[in-house]
Amino acid sequence: MAAALWALLAASFLAALLLQRARARRPGGGGDSGFFQELIRYGKTKSGGERRPASLRLLHVPKRWFIHFYAVSVLWNGFLLIWLLQAQSLPGSLSSWLQHLHHALGRASQNEDMGSEHFSALLVLLLLWLHSFRRLAECLWTSVFSDGVIHTVQYCFGLGYYVALGLTVLCQVPANFRNGEELSVQICWYHIMGIVMYIWASLHQHRCLVILANLRKSKSGKVINLSHSVPYGDWFERVSCPHYFAEVLIYVSMAITLGLHNVTWWFVVLYVLSNQALAAVLCHEFYQNKFSSYPKHRKAFIPFVY
Ligand SMILES: NC(=O)c1ccc[n+]([C@@H]2O[C@H](COP(=O)([O-])OP(=O)(O)OC[C@H]3O[C@@H](n4cnc5c(N)ncnc54)[C@H](OP(=O)(O)O)[C@@H]3O)[C@@H](O)[C@H]2O)c1
Repeated sequence: MAAALWALLAASFLAALLLQRARARRPGGGGDSGFFQELIRYGKTKSGGERRPASLRLLHVPKRWFIHFYAVSVLWNGFLLIWLLQAQSLPGSLSSWLQHLHHALGRASQNEDMGSEHFSALLVLLLLWLHSFRRLAECLWTSVFSDGVIHTVQYCFGLGYYVALGLTVLCQVPANFRNGEELSVQICWYHIMGIVMYIWASLHQHRCLVILANLRKSKSGKVINLSHSVPYGDWFERVSCPHYFAEVLIYVSMAITLGLHNVTWWFVVLYVLSNQALAAVLCHEFYQNKFSSYPKHRKAFIPFVY
């Protein structure tokens, strides 16, 4: 069921991406009015704030509220992590509603080595929690937000997203794994490879977010403007949205940590890929339209490719 849900979401965003590309190619197309555009654009790619009718403005919330997504994720996925760890060491001691949910959602595994599947899922939940924690800290102390907005539909979707993501990881713990059963802490090559890739992609994502924040600060670190300018340095030399590319790499690193064979998680990766590709294409168009001297060799999202 989780796989079908993520596949549906990925297909919707892929369709939106193709539709947007087709519109942008039409003469006079690519404008940002209409409900479809309201739903796919946010922040700097959604223009005309003051010109928007008051009724429509009511449907928007500040983009800085991204912070709520990560706060929800840190709390919810932290709770799931503690629950999974305690369910293993203190059987029967924890929330029975979550136990029922896990039995309903978790898949039955025929694999002899269920303990190791349990361990991989725990690792991924930990990586997801660390990712949300870092993003929360960046929203609080690194990024400088302007008065950009997001639609309330996007806001509600964002709140539900990290809850659904944690439940998806929970589903990857075999439902027939008995509480109190020995957890097999067997480090495999794919755990190491996944974690190395996760750290590498996270470092670059952080560096790129620092570069964006510095565009609005003086040398002494004081915020001096809230405008959008052209970023340079790190992966920005190759693409307009390296932080979106790094996000996809982070989810790929989790697929690797799960042992590469988890179809549900590959659908999550496909969803993040299509969602971030759409956001990157809109952002790339924004830069090209706003800055006549925008570097011609820069791709939107994937270095040398797209
Ligand atoms: N997993 C998912 O489904 C998902 C979905 C969305 C985002 N994300 C991740 O969340 C992170 C943030 O995403 P985002 O869409 O908010 O990124 P973003 O639009 O690039 O914004 C990041 C920060 O940089 C500022 N900024 C952006 N462009 C700038 C420019 N040209 N000059 C100066 N400041 C600039 C933004 O301010 P303002 O926008 O306030 O002006 C904001 O503070 C990314 O790493 C992304 O991968 C993940």
